[in-house]
Amino acid sequence: MNIILIGGPSVGKGTYASKLKKIYHIPHISTGDLFRENIKNETELGIKAKTYIDKGNLVPDEVTIDMVKDRLSKEDAQNGYLLDGFPRTTAQAEALESFTKIDKVLYFTADESVIIARVAGRRICKACGAIFHTTNIPPKKEGVCDYCGGEIYQRPDEQPEIVKERLNTFQEKTKPVIDYYKEKGLLAEIDANRDINNPKFRVIEDCQEVLDQLKA
Ligand code: AP5
Ligand code: MG
Repeated sequence: MNIILIGGPSVGKGTYASKLKKIYHIPHISTGDLFRENIKNETELGIKAKTYIDKGNLVPDEVTIDMVKDRLSKEDAQNGYLLDGFPRTTAQAEALESFTKIDKVLYFTADESVIIARVAGRRICKACGAIFHTTNIPPKKEGVCDYCGGEIYQRPDEQPEIVKERLNTFQEKTKPVIDYYKEKGLLAEIDANRDINNPKFRVIEDCQEVLDQLKA
């Protein structure tokens, strides 16, 4: 089951993928996480990517496409994957088709005000990447990861002006990708406005309804 998770910045792609990967036993592959790992390790790729990410711009297609192609060729991705944050341009979508087949695209939508509140409170574990939120999903002990005890930090691309740029980039570059998959009949829209603490959340159940049809 080869699945794409697409949606604006901080709509919750990483949060939902971390639940779906346990249900379907397929890896969660996030291009943002791959870049951040490279930045942490100060690789050549990381140093290059940082100059774009820090401004809220996209990393150039050729660099990103090669990174994803390499990641999808790994053993653990041979029975399916949850691809989060890629493709973000139509050139990336076309390239992806040349080395893999996509079964479904989950498109998460939320109002801009909801997105801005999620970005502002998001915190991430430095060690394992677990995602928290200061009010929506707080860690049990402030500043400490519930899962591995690692240090929790705020991403450097969360300043309001950078978030605005990420929202613009999404509208300009990634919206055409959504139309691209809609035309191919692969798109399933999921309302991600619903708060994870609300009993009516049901975002994961809605994803399952779509994905279980692929298995049937
Ligand atoms: P990336 O890391 O992909 O950033 P993004 O798309 O902006 O998405 P985020 O990771 O910010 O948000 P998310 O949707 O995963 O939300 P989360 O689950 O954390 O990319 C970063 C940068 O890398 C890009 O700007 C670009 O420069 C570069 N890049 C990456 N891919 C690229 C590509 N293909 N091509 C070129 N460049 C690329 O949730 C957010 C917060 O909300 C959390 O605190 C969470 O706890 C909370 N939350 C989530 N859902 C809910 C809910 N339903 N109710 C309550 N709280 C919620
Ligand atoms: Mg993410």
